[in-house]
Amino acid sequence: MSTQTVTLTGIQPTGEVHLGNYAGAIQPLLRLAADERRDVYVFVADLHALNGQPDPAVLSERSRRVAATLLACGLDRPNVRLYRQSRVPAIARLATMLGSVTSKGLLNRAHAYKAAVAANAEAGRDPDHGVNAGLFSYPVLMAADILGLGADEVPVGVDQAQHLEIAVDLAQQFARTYRPGVLREPRALIADGVATLPGLDGRKMSKSYDNTIALMGDAKTTAAKVRRIVTDSTPPEQPKDPDACTLVTLLRVFAEAHTVAEVEARYRAGGIGYGEVKALLADVIEDHVAPLRARYERLLADPGALRDRLAADERHAADRADEVLAATMSAMGL
Ligand code: TRP
Repeated sequence: MSTQTVTLTGIQPTGEVHLGNYAGAIQPLLRLAADERRDVYVFVADLHALNGQPDPAVLSERSRRVAATLLACGLDRPNVRLYRQSRVPAIARLATMLGSVTSKGLLNRAHAYKAAVAANAEAGRDPDHGVNAGLFSYPVLMAADILGLGADEVPVGVDQAQHLEIAVDLAQQFARTYRPGVLREPRALIADGVATLPGLDGRKMSKSYDNTIALMGDAKTTAAKVRRIVTDSTPPEQPKDPDACTLVTLLRVFAEAHTVAEVEARYRAGGIGYGEVKALLADVIEDHVAPLRARYERLLADPGALRDRLAADERHAADRADEVLAATMSAMGL
């Protein structure tokens, strides 16, 4: 028996990776992966992304960029496997099989579907307007991602907690209906609120609010974005609360502790202007991301090498998932 902990998470290739993704998902994952006793499986959730019906060329380019980003950020380690979900065929097959132990009512109550139905009700449309079966059964595919690789722990944001509960539920339902010990029950590692970064407007940094700063953006674009961060109108000489300022929250992620402490002290004492803090913030972000961006660009410049790098991990993940699939099929009489 291996004493390794299997850690797994997926990232949807739905847009440009931004600083909020970095602080909220990538950095926590790097900290977990630093422990060699973890076998880490990270995948690009390209099948999940199909629900948004992206242009095929856009989807494949985004998948490539997400993979390059993860490697460039430091997940290029011997105990980390990085793969595209679509290249592990057992996952989709397992999702079909799990459909039989999934009650429809459970999916009716899933947040993403309920939110779509509520938005339709609000707009006076048919409840299922614009909802495809993929969106409705999203939690089943996600359970297959997790159970198919035999994950022990799944680091996710709090918005995914319900999906994790559903995965546990389906594993238990399978054990009751067929056989225990085939599908391992995962545990959620829910990121605490500390890692939620505010965006340009002070709300949570999110693609859906259009308030993001790209992780791999060039220095000029990033600096321009930082200048657009909304602050209050307290004049420079007056004392300010560092805990109420988006700039300080971002500084805490990217600046050295002594720099943060200095800025906080000057906020409290008065005598610091937001323009100065923005310039400092743009500089510390650039210092932090410049080496990552250089690696990212090198990876993107050699598509063949990136493809080969993924292919090796994809074979490994596919073999592992095939074992779970075989046990599941046998338990089900297939
Ligand atoms: N649903 C997750 C999100 O939108 C992505 C995801 C898909 C995932 N499958 C997963 C995360 C399995 C963890 C485990 O963020």
